[in-house]
Amino acid sequence: MGNEQLVERRRRTLGPAYRHFYREPLYIVRGEGVWLYDEQGRRYLDCYNNVPSVGHCRPEIVDALSRQAATLNTHTRYLHHAIVEYAEMLAETLPGDLSVCTLVCTGTEANELAYRIARTVTGNEGAICTIGAYHGNSTLVSELSPCFGRERPKPAFIADAMPPDVYRGPYGSDEPGYVDKYVEFVDDALDELADNGHKPAMMIIDSIYDAAGVHTPPPEYQQRVHEKVRAAGGLVVCDEVQSGLTRLGDHWWGFMDSAVVPDIVTMGKPMGAGHPLAVVVTTPEIAADFARESAYFNTFGGNPVSATVGKTVLEIVRRDDLLGNVQSSGDYLRAGLCRLADRHALIGDVRGKGLFLAVDLVRDRDTREPAAEQAAHVVERMREIGVLVALIGEKRNTVKFRPPLVFTTAHAEMALSALNEALAAC
Ligand SMILES: Cc1ncc(COP(=O)(O)O)c(C=O)c1O
Repeated sequence: MGNEQLVERRRRTLGPAYRHFYREPLYIVRGEGVWLYDEQGRRYLDCYNNVPSVGHCRPEIVDALSRQAATLNTHTRYLHHAIVEYAEMLAETLPGDLSVCTLVCTGTEANELAYRIARTVTGNEGAICTIGAYHGNSTLVSELSPCFGRERPKPAFIADAMPPDVYRGPYGSDEPGYVDKYVEFVDDALDELADNGHKPAMMIIDSIYDAAGVHTPPPEYQQRVHEKVRAAGGLVVCDEVQSGLTRLGDHWWGFMDSAVVPDIVTMGKPMGAGHPLAVVVTTPEIAADFARESAYFNTFGGNPVSATVGKTVLEIVRRDDLLGNVQSSGDYLRAGLCRLADRHALIGDVRGKGLFLAVDLVRDRDTREPAAEQAAHVVERMREIGVLVALIGEKRNTVKFRPPLVFTTAHAEMALSALNEALAAC
């Protein structure tokens, strides 16, 4: 059967709210390491998917998952060693008192629970998110995800703050006191909540402001945000769904780059290497406060199969020193992107760190006018060459590289060569 028929059947049965990548949708049937294979057997270098963190279909993961699935799969209401071991292993990777884990299935659920915890513990209702952010797809969390625009007017208990976008935002990094100026947007958001009769339960922040266009925050900004939000009576929730698990190259968790310790950390995507596993981690005090008023149960979250998969992912990340790999491959890729920026005027900015990198394409380096058409062309051309990337940012002009953590410098070389060719054809 041709792909057109499958596309049409999908359109009829899955509905138009689902989007697919590429003008001609890719039909992927197999994955291995950093490679994806289409139905014709053609292979593509995956520079985009962060979920298969330790590589697509990693045999150790498949093996651990199948053995546990063949033995037992229940839930967290029975004792099971794998669930406890997973939480213990995760806690070892985290600083401060971040040691109490709640296992859920998706990043959305993790952020929902983070808000519930923050609301219960602080007694407040207000929530601050950053402009352009994405934190998930439930009714509440999509209100905290302004990147797609809101379907209805913003609820009065939510306020948005401008993240530190020093390329297109109102203040560049050469502007004296620019960090203070971005922090003032948090003051404004707190004022907006107060005007609407709300105190903050939480502010949810990213360690790299991805959906807004991959902006790495200055550590001082993150530190000051923690101080401000706590001083106003709220908790700080760090969304590590994308930036976590060594992705940024210096630490296990992105927030550690800023030497801060949030009150709640949410994790997802790469944690189960393709299996639905997400986690909320907080301190014993906050967890105890929450438990005084609330109970929590999740039918699938933290079942023995998920916990076994999660443990195996952590073991591989540690044993294979993926942090070291992210640092070396990430530095290599970033240096290559900067070299391409010397050659191609279309690249206005190279951003990000570790294996979370992006190039912002512009029509003109002085005006920084987004080159969305060219960016779309680059993504399509790279696919033709056999390299998968995607676009991010409000203007859809930023090409994002966020491959599995097992991506090597040799893979980076292939990605750079494909980008070079695609840019040359623009
Ligand atoms: C930063 C961030 N947080 C949360 C989510 C939501 O995760 P999920 O799709 O697993 O619900 C995403 C998903 O893209 C994300 O990028």
